[in-house]
Amino acid sequence: MARQRQDYDHVIKLLVIGDSGVGKTSLLLRFSEDSFTTSFISTIGIDFKIKKVMIDEKCCKLQIWDTAGQERFRTITKAYYRGAMGIMLVYDTTDEKSFENVRNWMKNIEQNAAPNVNKILIGNKSDSAKRAISTSMGEALAQEFGIQFFETSAKTGSYVEDAFVHISRHVKNRLEREKPTGTSASEPPVGVIKATKEKKRVRKCC
Ligand code: GTP
Ligand code: MG
Repeated sequence: MARQRQDYDHVIKLLVIGDSGVGKTSLLLRFSEDSFTTSFISTIGIDFKIKKVMIDEKCCKLQIWDTAGQERFRTITKAYYRGAMGIMLVYDTTDEKSFENVRNWMKNIEQNAAPNVNKILIGNKSDSAKRAISTSMGEALAQEFGIQFFETSAKTGSYVEDAFVHISRHVKNRLEREKPTGTSASEPPVGVIKATKEKKRVRKCC
């Protein structure tokens, strides 16, 4: 059977978690469609989006799983931790409770995700005047966990792309380090490299 050619170098599976209402779906909407809405439609179970991005000249197909923050969906959403390569843990800078819950979310990650999963902490709604959690509080917590911290606004778009690209780059670099052959996952067998080189140059990504 002919092997289907991939038009990307890596598939990167990301999971977005955090309390209900912190803006997980909004971050994803901003990143994938560059849009925002003030209406709150709470996610039921799990949803996902695909977006291709070029990172360090590699075409990365991001498969981003948007989980429901509501407690009643916890059993369903936990099932998705295992397959995640990167996890974006989001709290709301205007909501103290969502910040306090970061520790519980971290425990969930430890118990359910792969030990080498890449993680970042995101304080969302940085545009809001109703701030309850300072930037330095977010930074300190991220430092305690030894992970990168971003303050974002899905409303204005501030640092949204930076956060997604940062975690994707770290996953990509890890995948490249872990690969036994040291070649790209989509690299064709040696004999066909020459024939496909031209195609590769003009292939579409992003
Ligand atoms: P669940 O699906 O229930 O887990 O919630 P969620 O985390 O997906 O929250 P969602 O993205 O649906 O956003 C909740 C509310 O916060 C919506 O009314 C959004 O408009 C608002 N919101 C999201 N991000 C921002 C932001 O960056 N700034 C401001 N001001 N509001 C935001
Ligand atoms: Mg949602």
